[in-house]
Amino acid sequence: MSRERLVSPDIISKEEEGFNRTLRPPTLAEYIGQRKVVEKLEIALEAARRRGEPLEHALFHGPPGLGKTTLAHIIANAMGSKITITSGPALERTGDLMGILTNLGEGDILFIDEIHRLPANIEEFLYPAMEDFRVDFVVDKGMFAKTINVPLKKFTLIGATTRAGSLSAPLRNRLGLVYHLDFYDLDELQKIVVRSARILDARIDDGGSSEIARRARGTPRIANRLLRRVRDFAEVKAKGEINSAVAREALRLEGVDESGLDDLDRNFLSVIIRHYHGGPVGVEALSATLNEEVDTLVDMVEPYLLQQGFISRTKSGRKANEPAYKLLGQPVPRGAAPTLFD
Ligand code: ADE
Repeated sequence: MSRERLVSPDIISKEEEGFNRTLRPPTLAEYIGQRKVVEKLEIALEAARRRGEPLEHALFHGPPGLGKTTLAHIIANAMGSKITITSGPALERTGDLMGILTNLGEGDILFIDEIHRLPANIEEFLYPAMEDFRVDFVVDKGMFAKTINVPLKKFTLIGATTRAGSLSAPLRNRLGLVYHLDFYDLDELQKIVVRSARILDARIDDGGSSEIARRARGTPRIANRLLRRVRDFAEVKAKGEINSAVAREALRLEGVDESGLDDLDRNFLSVIIRHYHGGPVGVEALSATLNEEVDTLVDMVEPYLLQQGFISRTKSGRKANEPAYKLLGQPVPRGAAPTLFD
C-alpha cells in the first residue's frame, strides 16, 4: 500500500525536490549537524585537494532524509566537479552504466542512491571501474566475442544506502570512506528550520521553530516539509507569523502528533501490542497485518521508533516498550522495557 505520509522521509514529490534544492546547504560550513561526519569529510576533502587528486570512493549510510544526497552535492561543489546522479534500481543494463561512466570527467562524482539495490551484473561491471578506472566491455558473441578495455577518467563514486548491511563485501571493500548519518537532535533541527525559514522569507519565532523541530522525527527533510505546511497555514490564518500556537494548530490539522508520529507509526505500534501481545513479532507478520511493504517498515518506520525507544529489535522479532503502551493509552504489562529516553 502506498500513500502520502507527511512524516515519511522517503517519498519526494517533484515540487518538494525543487524546494529541497533551494534549502540544501551548498558548503560544509553551512551544514548543520552530523559533526563527526562533517569533520572527517573536511579532512578528506582538504587532503585530496592538496594532493590534486579526486576524493576516494565513499559511502553514506543511514535512514532516509538525513542528508546523504546533500553531502554528495557539497562534495562536488568543494572539489569543483560535476555530479551525475543515478540509483541502484535505475541501472538495469551494463550499457546504461557504460554510457554514464565514459561521460565522467577527471574528478567528477557519480552518485548512486540506493546502492544496495544494484543488480549483481552491474555491480561486477563497476569493480574494475572503481579500482582501475577502466571497464571491460564484451562485444560480439561466440567465436567473435572479444573484450574491449575502455579507460575511464579518475572519478569518485559516492554511494548512499539505508541498508549498509545489505551491501556486498566486494563493493563495500572498494568504498574507502564510509560515513554513518544519524538522526539530528532537537537543537540542530531547530537551527535547520530557522535557516530554511530565512531562505523562504517566512517569519518564525523560537516557539514556532521548536514545535516544528519536535515533530520532525530527527529528520531535516521532514522538518522542511512541516515548515512548508505551517507556512501555508500561517499565510492563510495568521498573517504569515509562525509561532508556537500557529505551528501546533497547523500540524494538528495534518495529523502529526506531538512526537512526530503519524497514523502508520501508531498503527505499527498498535498491531504489535494488540495483535501480537507486545511481541516479539517478525517484520513479515507485521507487514502482512499492516498491508505495508517490509522495506517501508524497515527503512522508514522502524528506525525512528527504535531510536526513540518505542520498540526494541530482538533475535525473535520486534517488541513494544513501555513508551509505546503509554503513547496508545494501554496498560503497561510487566516485562515491557521501561522508558529509555526522557
Ligand atoms: N537543510 C537540510 N538539511 C540541512 C542541514 N543538515 N544543514 C543545513 N540545512 C539543511
